[in-house]
Amino acid sequence: MTAPTVPAGTSLPPLPHWEEIPADLPDATRQIKAALRARIAASGRTVEEVFAVVERRIEAEVADIAATRTRGESVWPVIDYADIEAGTVTAEQMQALHRRGCLIVRGHFPREQAVAWDRDIVDYTERNGFFDAYRGPGDDFFGSVGSKPEIYPIYWSAAQMQARQSDRMARVQAFLNAQWKHESEGVRWFEPDRDSLYPDRIRRRPPGTDSGGLGTHLDPGTLDLWMTKAYQQAFRHLFDGTVEEYDPWDAAHRTDGPQYPGTTMCSAFRTFQGWTALSDMDHDQGVLHTVPIPAAMAYLMLRPLLPDVPDDDMGGVTINRVFPVSERWHPLLLKAVTGIPDVRAGDSVWWHCDMIHSVAPVENQKGWGNVMYIPAAPWCPRNERYSTSVREALLTGASPADFPAEHYEQSWPDRFRQSDLNITGRRGLGLN
Ligand SMILES: [Fe+2]
Repeated sequence: MTAPTVPAGTSLPPLPHWEEIPADLPDATRQIKAALRARIAASGRTVEEVFAVVERRIEAEVADIAATRTRGESVWPVIDYADIEAGTVTAEQMQALHRRGCLIVRGHFPREQAVAWDRDIVDYTERNGFFDAYRGPGDDFFGSVGSKPEIYPIYWSAAQMQARQSDRMARVQAFLNAQWKHESEGVRWFEPDRDSLYPDRIRRRPPGTDSGGLGTHLDPGTLDLWMTKAYQQAFRHLFDGTVEEYDPWDAAHRTDGPQYPGTTMCSAFRTFQGWTALSDMDHDQGVLHTVPIPAAMAYLMLRPLLPDVPDDDMGGVTINRVFPVSERWHPLLLKAVTGIPDVRAGDSVWWHCDMIHSVAPVENQKGWGNVMYIPAAPWCPRNERYSTSVREALLTGASPADFPAEHYEQSWPDRFRQSDLNITGRRGLGLN
């Protein structure tokens, strides 16, 4: 089917937009849904027709993922770091990355390096009395963390900063950013070769852990994805009947607009979410899963516009909570949930920022499950704004602004200092 184009000179029905959280959420939801339906209808197609196009595209991907699994092949693309460094990644590997939207980088760091970092973080926290000072999770969104932390609200260890500002990290981030279209409409939406050094936490999950995991969700936003002007432009092809032209890798209008604040929000624009493994982890030990279909975002954005969803409901999405993906509204997508293969300390794991993900439950976990969260967050207006607060947090050892104000490291004398930054770190913080 060829995509209809909006005839030149046709003006689309306008969309109401809210640059801050609307005072009356149900009313705003009713308004935006009616306006989106009207705009799609103006293309000469119904919402049902547009959604059916998306559904067929997703069905083909779900079938391909099932077939890949049946053949015993890894659904998650795997690329050796050495090939990224040498520029010898094959066209076939690139295609797989683009199609699945996720990636394992094998040997991103030498195993001994990752294991040493893991030990360094333990030493750093123990030396500074973290476990005595720890007062419990300030951000237990999922209610799954016990009295001993699994997610450590630690940001400024030498180990984390060494990884963040390393050449190896910069090279992989640039490789991943290059999957996106970063220039269009005469605008350079982000700088693919410059990361903005987004400080996040670490996770250390000990052997023997029982964990309920985390449900399927995504992290790019909540109601702002439908309600702010910038996101309405970013998802323009979903909302004007030209759904065939929707490209999940187009960064246009995604790197400058506002976001609705909330406990789960990430101020940065991330091309990929990611973490670096600090221990070996087997695929069946409560690991990360994704729905490896970047275009599933089209399904998620359009599904609430179908008539079976109440007018004041966005399919369960609301502010201040993660964007849920459920059997009720998204059964087709959940058929594709796929876990990572076994990873070793030093491998890194990446997934497109819009992609659905979850963490599987585990009982009596074998081995450690330790990771450093480091995304690919290229330099762009949004990330430049956030970097102001990151610079301040580094100076004082505070928890970064996106995270609960726990500030454990402020009095720790051996935390990473601004004077320890290399050129990559300085660029990442806007200090050059
Ligand atoms: Fe998440």
